[in-house]
Amino acid sequence: MRERIPAAYLTHEAWLAEHRFYVDERVIVPRSFIAELLPEQLSPWVESPDEVTRALDLCTGSGCLGILAALAFPNATIDAVDLSRDALDVAARNVADYGLQARIELIESDLFTALQGRRYDLIISNPPYVNAESVAALPAEYQAEPALALGSGADGLDATRVILDKAKSHLNPGGLLVVEIGHNRDVLEAAYPALPFTWLETESGDQFVFMLRQEDLPDAA
Ligand SMILES: C[S@@+](CC[C@H](N)C(=O)[O-])C[C@H]1O[C@@H](n2cnc3c(N)ncnc32)[C@H](O)[C@@H]1O
Repeated sequence: MRERIPAAYLTHEAWLAEHRFYVDERVIVPRSFIAELLPEQLSPWVESPDEVTRALDLCTGSGCLGILAALAFPNATIDAVDLSRDALDVAARNVADYGLQARIELIESDLFTALQGRRYDLIISNPPYVNAESVAALPAEYQAEPALALGSGADGLDATRVILDKAKSHLNPGGLLVVEIGHNRDVLEAAYPALPFTWLETESGDQFVFMLRQEDLPDAA
């Protein structure tokens, strides 16, 4: 109790969208808003879940969102990417627990770096997005989580900027990019005033997850 270790690290389980995932200190405890959106909330843009055949979970951590995507889109094969080898080891355990080894490929990569030439119908990402000031003030429970999973530069948008810069060339025509950004909506919209973000409704509000279509994304620099 005094050490304020997240309960999920003691029980080695966490629940997301009514699904159980193995967790330990190598991964952040699953709590992404994107879980709420798969697949129903994407239905205005994805006519049928059957039509998604290639998807990417960028920054997969425990593999939770990649696994939920595989369950939501039954015809899809999924690439699940993380920079942390430790996180990918946890993801491998979860992928095996769900019997999804044939449909989910785990890839060690710095964002899109190892994905040259790969294109997807859907990219989902819950990247690190905590700004430097908030990282410095994190309560002990969050400090127990991997630092790589939380902080992302001075304004929390370092990873999101790379995703926005590179996603277009990794999406098929008509493809969708869905990214969680925490409390950074105002900062993000100020940084990209020309981008027509669609803010997806979650139980906690509509400022945490944006969606952009392939054709609305900037061309790679
Ligand atoms: C906020 S956690 C999300 C994990 C998981 N998707 C979830 O929702 O629980 C962010 C993840 O991004 C990974 N990460 C951080 N920087 C990365 C990078 N440059 N390339 C790929 N993955 C990265 C971290 O290791 C961490 O697992």
